Amino acid sequence: MPDILLTCNPGTEDIVLDEAREKIGARPVEIREKHGRLIVETSMDNTLLVEKIYEMRTIHYAGILLSSGKITSKKQGLEEIRKLVRDAAPDHFMTEYSAYAVRSVREGKHDFTSMDISRVVGDEIGKILENTGIKPYVRLGSPTTLFRADLIEDNFYLTLSLTGDQSRHIRGLRLFDHPAALKSSLAAVMLRIAGYRDKERLIDPMCGSGTIAIEASLTTVEGDIHCNDKSPRHIKSARRNALAAGVSQRITFTVSDAIELLSKNGEYDVIVSNPPYGIRLGDPRTVRQLYERFAEVLQPSLSLDGRAVIITTEHRTLEKASSRVGLKIMEKRVVRHGDLWVKILVLTRD
Ligand SMILES: C[S@@+](CC[C@H](N)C(=O)[O-])C[C@H]1O[C@@H](n2cnc3c(N)ncnc32)[C@H](O)[C@@H]1O
Repeated sequence: MPDILLTCNPGTEDIVLDEAREKIGARPVEIREKHGRLIVETSMDNTLLVEKIYEMRTIHYAGILLSSGKITSKKQGLEEIRKLVRDAAPDHFMTEYSAYAVRSVREGKHDFTSMDISRVVGDEIGKILENTGIKPYVRLGSPTTLFRADLIEDNFYLTLSLTGDQSRHIRGLRLFDHPAALKSSLAAVMLRIAGYRDKERLIDPMCGSGTIAIEASLTTVEGDIHCNDKSPRHIKSARRNALAAGVSQRITFTVSDAIELLSKNGEYDVIVSNPPYGIRLGDPRTVRQLYERFAEVLQPSLSLDGRAVIITTEHRTLEKASSRVGLKIMEKRVVRHGDLWVKILVLTRD
């Protein structure tokens, strides 16, 4: 029964576990909350497992755990890594035609580099393979078998990658990027928190390059999806990104002020959005005004059991404004978005 290492946006581990339960029948083994890492076990057959992992939308990386343990940050940590690799049996996953590579991810302070880790792990795997008589070769570009060594502070994990080199939050072709684009994996998390399902009416009133609306249209088959931004340039980008993702027909695009649009556009079941943060807006008064007016129009724009899920650093302003206008705060969670810790707020009508 293999253990699987999953990585994700820090702060979203419980949502990822939920998706892993659904897709691969996962049971939790070790959840490192706010660290973006979880180890789960599953009894799913390896071939089906790869297929199902690729259906997951909230993760960044998945790999079969071959070995793990604590190691010191001193130079001798490299020798401890060697010992852990010897427990790993990498030959189980290789034939003489395999071309393999090792990648390393390192977080924290250590007396050695990621390159040192890759070298030591690659060297040790080479020795194990020599003893088994299989002679696969190292190919750093486009390997058929990819090992990943993660050293996070003093925790070492060696995994066989199921998702390759590219993070799974990169969904495919993005023709245009927004300077403050949301990761698709975080958009997927917000949609799961909203409990978004088929046939529901959804809007992202400040959609930038369209990440949330595109993610929504990739996870349902029916229901209106509305993508609005006040910037014609961003809407052009969102439209092109949707075209590249093959979902432009599902989405209605408009260029409008979000407040004006929401105040006259009827009710939505789900409003998911990533409004601009203060650091980008500059003047704190502008920030306060935008969030106060946003809360005012959110309340009447939600259907009776409607849910608004908003990601922002301006949560205090939004929380205050929400309680003033009769919006109930159902959940607050801290997640990491790029270099920032931000909050996701879930609001409903009171
Ligand atoms: C943080 S960005 C959204 C990024 C988006 N989630 C993505 O992944 O590309 C915020 C967006 O809100 C838009 N915006 C700001 N104020 C607005 C308003 N009053 N009405 C509509 N859009 C607005 C900005 O043009 C910007 O594109």
